[in-house]
Amino acid sequence: MKLLDEKQISIGTCYYPEHWNPSVWEQDLARMLAVGIKTVRIAEFGWCLMEPAEGEFDFSLFDSFLDAAEKAGMQVIVGTPTATPPAWLTEKYPEVLNADVQGNLYRHGARRHYNYNSPKYQKLCGIIVEKMAQAYAGRNCVVGWQIDNELNCEVDEFYSESDTLAFRRFLKEKYGSVEKLNQAWGTVVWSQNYSSWDEVFVPRFTIHNTVNPHEVMDYKRFISDSCCRFAKMQSDILRKYVKDGDFITTNGMFGNLDNHRLREESLDVYMYDSYPNFAYCLEQYDEKDHMKDRRWSRNLAQTRAVSPVFGIMEQQSGANGWNTRMMAPTPEPGQMTLWTMQSIAHGADYVSFFRWRTATVGTEIYWHGILDYSGRENRRLAEARAIGEMTEKIGRIAGARYKAKVGIVTDYDNQFDAGLDKWHELVERQSQKALFEACQCTHTPFDYCYIDHMSPEELAKYEVLFYMHPVIMTRERAELLEEYVKQGGKLVFGCRSAYKDRNGHCVEEKLPCFLQTLTGTDVTEYSMISPKYNGIVKADWDGTVVETAVFNDLLSPAGKGEVLARYSENYYQGEGALIRNRYGSGEAYYFGGAFTRDTAEVFLKKLGAAEPYGNVLTLPQCCELAVRAKGDKEYLFVLNYSDEQQEIGLQSALDNVLTGQKEQGMMKLEPYGIAVYELKNKGLL
Ligand code: GAL
Repeated sequence: MKLLDEKQISIGTCYYPEHWNPSVWEQDLARMLAVGIKTVRIAEFGWCLMEPAEGEFDFSLFDSFLDAAEKAGMQVIVGTPTATPPAWLTEKYPEVLNADVQGNLYRHGARRHYNYNSPKYQKLCGIIVEKMAQAYAGRNCVVGWQIDNELNCEVDEFYSESDTLAFRRFLKEKYGSVEKLNQAWGTVVWSQNYSSWDEVFVPRFTIHNTVNPHEVMDYKRFISDSCCRFAKMQSDILRKYVKDGDFITTNGMFGNLDNHRLREESLDVYMYDSYPNFAYCLEQYDEKDHMKDRRWSRNLAQTRAVSPVFGIMEQQSGANGWNTRMMAPTPEPGQMTLWTMQSIAHGADYVSFFRWRTATVGTEIYWHGILDYSGRENRRLAEARAIGEMTEKIGRIAGARYKAKVGIVTDYDNQFDAGLDKWHELVERQSQKALFEACQCTHTPFDYCYIDHMSPEELAKYEVLFYMHPVIMTRERAELLEEYVKQGGKLVFGCRSAYKDRNGHCVEEKLPCFLQTLTGTDVTEYSMISPKYNGIVKADWDGTVVETAVFNDLLSPAGKGEVLARYSENYYQGEGALIRNRYGSGEAYYFGGAFTRDTAEVFLKKLGAAEPYGNVLTLPQCCELAVRAKGDKEYLFVLNYSDEQQEIGLQSALDNVLTGQKEQGMMKLEPYGIAVYELKNKGLL
């Protein structure tokens, strides 16, 4: 059996043979297999064991573990150990270290303290990866490779000297001359002109920590570029050795990184690390946030956008916490199952629990795995066993694609811009949260659509697209969107659309610049909503009150645009708040605010996208509906995130894949319970 071959859904775990006496390996492997765990990931932090001194290699420890795995019949994913350079390396070559914005080096003692751009580090990483590949790639039990560990996790900014040198190269290649760089960065403002490349640095310590925004935009692209190159260097080496059918992956997903490029250049499949228990961490717990762990469905949807069928390399299986940060309780009975099924419902065909046994030493002694320190039988092991049985029952769903008719359009330019532009971030964050919650509460499955990575045909699969605040807009993207609407699609924009170019310069054209024709809209004035209004100004849409949040664009129709809603308060009462433009066979909408959850629900309902399975299932708000489809079958996952029993209504008789029963009428779902129904894929959506 191979992994992620779209033929079965399976479970695994993360194992650290180096943390335990080899005498327990055999027993651990046997116990894993007995609960249905067929794959382990190893070695991703084991560099100092494999290269105890520069150029001296010793593969004996993991070799013996692989012997044990082969004997037991366990599959193995091997991780490259580049997230944790050995002490000899960072002492001898301090240039490999990353630094904070003030130039202080991050030192040995934690992990991920290296930078991607040090030629020395790249060379040493290349050597250990090649040696490992030579040692392990041919082993029968090895089925895949993980590059590094959580690229850009812990810190996603780099300020070492190697980074500055590489940043200059990156910019030279992009702009050719400092004059062009000056233009792109608008350095005429505040006397920031550069006269030579030597004056250019990665952003440095400044007053209010404010750095030229156009520079920061390029810096974010540079970090992403550096990370992608670092992964590709490893992937190119691994490719020479991996057996046919074995895969290369990495686990994520983190900031300042174009994950699509990473996957396209270096990976066969993408894996996500899912820790929904963060929602219950003492420091982060928010009583008012009714989504809590359900929010992880958003991250899973992002993962699916990178890799339609993916894996979970680390799935929560115990309490989490380091000795220095984060304190979260042990998952309650049923939560491990719920979170595993949440992953599978969103497209994961492999789920690996972090970790088998809890570490008895080191920073992560409170980051629990399935077993506690002693390794004794416990409730979570029993739950893992039941999950193993469940994945067998739903095995036929492997390879099925998530099914959604609503798409949330996004792109890395705008994501990076929202990370640096605090005005934009407020708007973006508000609407992303609101639309996610509205989709969840109306049981409307959605996908994220990365516009630069999708063909017109792929976009056309969605009946409704929301591209809520594409601050940065290009002619090419606008043309793709025009085509989508012309062919019959419905497309919704929110305020602040299309007022910047890719350098982050504000455009001099009338707004919304490249979207004027498509939206039939003229933005005549705009403002952040005054605190007097508590962040919300109401508008009237044919008698329905809709809230506009954070920011308002005042809208007039242009061309054939029709005003559908007008502001009903503030000094701009009566001005346009929503314009619809019929374009080709479809419709484009320009909404003058950021969205609240209620507003997003109004849009979903008025555009006919809400509750696509309303005639099949009636669900309480606390349950999520997620759908995967394959061939002529659809699989409806119902996930109960509450700690109370819920009732769900089935309008007709449906096959419950987990119980093997036909069910109809009112059914009970246990606290944290799940149900999976199979139905004919007759284009119900
Ligand atoms: C992940 C990481 C693991 C482990 C876990 C718990 O971010 O990949 O190695 O550290 O968190 O902290």
